[in-house]
Amino acid sequence: MMTTRAIRIAVLVSGGGSNLQALIDNSRDKPYEIALVAADRDCYALERAQKAGIPTVLTSAQTGMKRSEARDYISTALLERVHEYRVDALVLAGFLTIMTGPIIQEFSQRIINIHPALLPKFGGPGMWGHHVHEAVLAAGEVESGCTVHLVDAGCDTGPILLQRKVPVMPGDSAESLAERILKEEHTAIVEGVVLLAGRLALTTGV
Ligand code: GAR
Repeated sequence: MMTTRAIRIAVLVSGGGSNLQALIDNSRDKPYEIALVAADRDCYALERAQKAGIPTVLTSAQTGMKRSEARDYISTALLERVHEYRVDALVLAGFLTIMTGPIIQEFSQRIINIHPALLPKFGGPGMWGHHVHEAVLAAGEVESGCTVHLVDAGCDTGPILLQRKVPVMPGDSAESLAERILKEEHTAIVEGVVLLAGRLALTTGV
């Protein structure tokens, strides 16, 4: 008989951490536990984790590093930490480093990302935060939303697990659209982790 347990996730953050907060607030009776919160810069999300009694780790790029060196450096350091905390899966919740190398292979099918648009539209390098919403408005879209997807070696390219849509309203600014989408993200991120836990239980008997 297959046994199942809550998956141990690391939540990766770079900013305000409202998606992390949604995962913390809704974790009761869910098939996941947050084993670690990891950041690539000092950010408010770390405070949220500390308030919730979750271990945190901060690995930022060192001065003078090229962007590609910084990505490798952060990815390697993170892999060590997720081993140390016996993590089953990674959840990118507003994490702004594009990960590279062994961590992507080792956690293949076990990393999810939340993106604030309806992928495959408005994704890829440079498409994060307000840039995404500005591009959606400039394109005259009538709807936007958020996407939870599996992470592969590309940027915002992995298979989509779920999306939630919102209308773009006349007179929207990037801020008002972001706020409408963020509310949906807080539901989507929890649904995404629950889906991931289900997939891992089926494929590996975690
Ligand atoms: C969220 O809107 C998330 O989708 C976005 O950053 C925000 C983080 O908010 N991520 C990206 O743009 C990545 N491409 P939070 O720190 O309050 O969770």
